[in-house]
Amino acid sequence: MSKSSEIIKRDKKVISPSLTRDTDFVFKYGKGCCVFDADNKKYIDFSAGIAVNSLGYGNKDILNAIKKQLNYGMHIGFGDFYAEKPVEFVETLLKFVPKHLNKAFLSNSGTETVEAAYKLARWHTRKKWVIAFKNSFHGRTYASLSMTNTKKVQRDRYDPFLPVKHVPYADTFRFKGSEKDCINYCLNELEKTISNLKKDVAAVFMEPIQGEGGYIVPPKDFVKGVREICDNLNVLLAVDEVQSGCYRTGKFLAMENFNVKPDIVCLSKAIGGGLPLGVTLANDKIMNWVPGSHNNTFGGNLAACSSAIAFLNCCKKKKIWNNVNKVGSYMMKRLNKLKEEHEIIGDVRGLGLMIGVDFVNNKKDKSYNFKTRDKIVLKCKENGLIVLPAGKSVIRFCPPLILNKKEADAGLRIFEKSLKKVNK
Ligand SMILES: Cc1ncc(COP(=O)(O)O)c(C=O)c1O
Repeated sequence: MSKSSEIIKRDKKVISPSLTRDTDFVFKYGKGCCVFDADNKKYIDFSAGIAVNSLGYGNKDILNAIKKQLNYGMHIGFGDFYAEKPVEFVETLLKFVPKHLNKAFLSNSGTETVEAAYKLARWHTRKKWVIAFKNSFHGRTYASLSMTNTKKVQRDRYDPFLPVKHVPYADTFRFKGSEKDCINYCLNELEKTISNLKKDVAAVFMEPIQGEGGYIVPPKDFVKGVREICDNLNVLLAVDEVQSGCYRTGKFLAMENFNVKPDIVCLSKAIGGGLPLGVTLANDKIMNWVPGSHNNTFGGNLAACSSAIAFLNCCKKKKIWNNVNKVGSYMMKRLNKLKEEHEIIGDVRGLGLMIGVDFVNNKKDKSYNFKTRDKIVLKCKENGLIVLPAGKSVIRFCPPLILNKKEADAGLRIFEKSLKKVNK
């Protein structure tokens, strides 16, 4: 029996069956943009540990920063004591985000940063309802799950939920009508829903690009329209940049691609440089809650904050956005060429290195081809490429942001070979 099979067998005995493993890849170690399995087979990694390992595996700056901090201690309980590292981290981070965001609450994961944003919006406004988008993913604890709307299995048996209304997101690829009609329809629904709730709406929560829902990039006018409606109806705009943030799209915040300023921002995944970290950002006029209204034990973890400072400084030193834009547009070009050649590729979309390939049964009816998608994910793994599914019929590419053109080519060659094999 291979080492990987043996580990999987042990895993099945003791690990919760609620986890979702799409392939039988068993991680042993990583180097740069590659990962190696328990039997030492090498793979190109187009998933980066679910959009976390943005500087790849084994980044020296991050490792050295963590090691240095470990000599002093990794935890103090920043919710109850002062310490310099978390302050230094937030001071550093604030130089990367729009100026109006000047206060931060620290936590440990995506769902926690959303949970904090939700509580902050309700605390600050004293209002009850929030609006989220259909097909969105914000996490799996109660406030975030109340907003999450991707898969049925994620919500089944968990009601009642917190007061959330879901409205349509501008998915222009599958909307039956023009882009303009799609935008108008979605914005009208949003406006109507907020108005019907009679001034009791705290915030609209949105992903600038829907991640788990299938890498859906909305039109600029939709995002601008959401901001306008929030302003007109006196509702906060909270954006979930857990997956799209930290240069994944070429800008530090994906929202910058749309020239829209959010009131509250949620970051996690890549920001910790591989260690668990969540950050909720807002202006001090909004983040004005009182001591005890929200807090935690591990937020501001010293090792995670040291890693995050090194991550941010390294992104800046490398001018990582240049590579994201260069390699991202190269990959989009190659994938668009594949789209022309294959009836089952309905759409290629994305920004920077957040790219989705949407599989259809045929280009005309755009019906979800999840069966072929699932087979290609498995075939890629067999051929030495790690990719993740997203949404009903999408394969997402969220590689480390340091991926070079040669590595992109090698990965895409495996993707093409796997696609052809499955679709022959
Ligand atoms: C946009 C978004 N928000 C929130 C989350 C939840 O993050 P976590 O799994 O760290 O709780 C995710 C995770 O994929 C995400 O993509």
